[in-house]
Amino acid sequence: MCGIIGYIGKRNAVSVILEGLKRLEYRGYDSAGIAFFSDKGIEIRRCTGKIRELASMLESENPSSSTAIGHTRWATHGRPSEENAHPHRSNSIVLVHNGIIENYLDLKERMIEKGYEFKSETDTEVLCHLIEEYTKRYPFEQAVREALKEVKGSYALVIVKEDEPAKIVGARKDSPLVVGLGEGEFFLASDVPAFLNYSRNVIFLDDGEMAVLTYKGLMITEPDNTPARKDVKSVPWSLSMAEKGGYRHFMLKEIYEQPRAIGDTLRGRLYPERGAVNFDEFGFGIDELKKVKKIFIVACGTSYHAALTGKYMIEELARTPTEVDIASEFRYRRPLVKSGDLMIAITQSGETADTLAAQREAKRLGARILSICNVVGSTSSREADAVFYTHSGPEIGVASTKAFTAQIVALYLFAIGLGKTKGVISENISRELLKELLMLPGKVEKALAIDEDIRRIAEGFFKARGFLYLGRGINYPIALEGALKLKEISYIHAEGYPAGEMKHGPIALIDEELPVIVLAPMDNLHKKIISNIQEVKSRGGRVISITNDSDSEIFRTSDKCILVPNTNSYLTPVLMAIAVQLLAYYVGVLRGCDVDQPRNLAKSVTVE
Ligand code: F6R
Repeated sequence: MCGIIGYIGKRNAVSVILEGLKRLEYRGYDSAGIAFFSDKGIEIRRCTGKIRELASMLESENPSSSTAIGHTRWATHGRPSEENAHPHRSNSIVLVHNGIIENYLDLKERMIEKGYEFKSETDTEVLCHLIEEYTKRYPFEQAVREALKEVKGSYALVIVKEDEPAKIVGARKDSPLVVGLGEGEFFLASDVPAFLNYSRNVIFLDDGEMAVLTYKGLMITEPDNTPARKDVKSVPWSLSMAEKGGYRHFMLKEIYEQPRAIGDTLRGRLYPERGAVNFDEFGFGIDELKKVKKIFIVACGTSYHAALTGKYMIEELARTPTEVDIASEFRYRRPLVKSGDLMIAITQSGETADTLAAQREAKRLGARILSICNVVGSTSSREADAVFYTHSGPEIGVASTKAFTAQIVALYLFAIGLGKTKGVISENISRELLKELLMLPGKVEKALAIDEDIRRIAEGFFKARGFLYLGRGINYPIALEGALKLKEISYIHAEGYPAGEMKHGPIALIDEELPVIVLAPMDNLHKKIISNIQEVKSRGGRVISITNDSDSEIFRTSDKCILVPNTNSYLTPVLMAIAVQLLAYYVGVLRGCDVDQPRNLAKSVTVE
């Protein structure tokens, strides 16, 4: 989704903004722009395409300014074009916007009647005119406040005014905005990595709040214009965590970071000798958890696939009924949530609009909310009753990898803790389960050794027009995830299916052209999945299997077979995930795709 940054301070704001925009590239965008102050007033440069093109537009003039704002746009209203790119302007007001203005057509009509001329197809431009109109009656900040009273929809806004070069105004509603605090300088951005090289001290704005940044200081106010009391948070991420560190792509770096991400996610959260999980981290008392009768899990995309593995774990280990919903469906399906139920919202970014809406709906219906989230201070984490942070570090590649496996680990811990609390599993069993978890980072490290084999397999199959992924039980969600990763990264159509369901339809697709990826760990369904492989082979299909059993018959029945380390059945999805992530990565690279910023995708989907 769009990225926003504003800067005021002692550095050259133009360079800070260009650098910040580069760091926001991962969110996905199709055009970009910057506004800065010069002797002539506010100047705007915008272009379609990449930040490097914006930077080269400015190279010869080499401007310098102490205040500037910038934007990467992911088109919603109006195609990607120079006119639709932000910043937008109305006389003295220049602004950048993330979100969607729902009543923009009504407002536009009114502004046209007042004589304003529209130059773009965006919903954003109406905001400039509206604020400009209010500046005729009120000072800058108040004009923003008055204008926003008329606006329906979501926004994160960063605004400057031509005759007030030493001021930036920011406002948010349903779209993230964070202030970065430096010495004699301030940042305002949609996302912390935008200014991580200058500051790790941040204040997250809440809905309805406004921030006014000047050289002298920062003022944050509530919707009624009273000063807001805000905590400064320190973000535990370093700049190197948000850089490629020698890898060709962020995605590959993040795949390789999984042993560390999993290790960090479980650190301090278990007592292996007692077979216990540290529930303080989950923020609920044991008594409260004992009473939970039903759990709802909501998420989108890859996080939804983690949620599906969670259902298997929670229902088996804690015998607690668990429903999993795609968040965008949950919010509109009149779910039967009751007071005392628990909702787990899983979200890497903590800003996904559909997940937030589902979480809010469950809260309204009386459920308690646990957010499993990767971004400290994000909206999901702030609105939940309890948060379990996955400590994956910043995930920059648009396709989620390390956040996914850390989410599975979080759910595993939760299921064990709940199972033990409810007396469903004994201390011995939970001790064994936790012992296995402690070995997981090492096993993931070993699993990464399949990299070269997967690359060779990708070389043999990257021209295929479609792929089928099959899995059973807790690895069925990994079949879905493998297919999603491949679609995102390589633009090849892929489907994930429960292997036992193949004969009810998709078997018609099988021929020598269709590679079939089979997730076949050694578990209670192993024999069944071997039969599924035979069904594919007997129809001329080409099978690439992933297993953790070196003696398995699968080595004889499959065309290619990849071996990952053995673990218990609940954790096999983590090791299987490594294989499908690497396969998608190499197929994408071999097809010449931009794997870190796939077309049309956004890292954090902050609109419905
Ligand atoms: C896929 C991917 C997306 C996200 C989804 C939810 O690789 O990254 O499908 O998983 O948009 O995002 P979060 O987890 O931030 O809520």
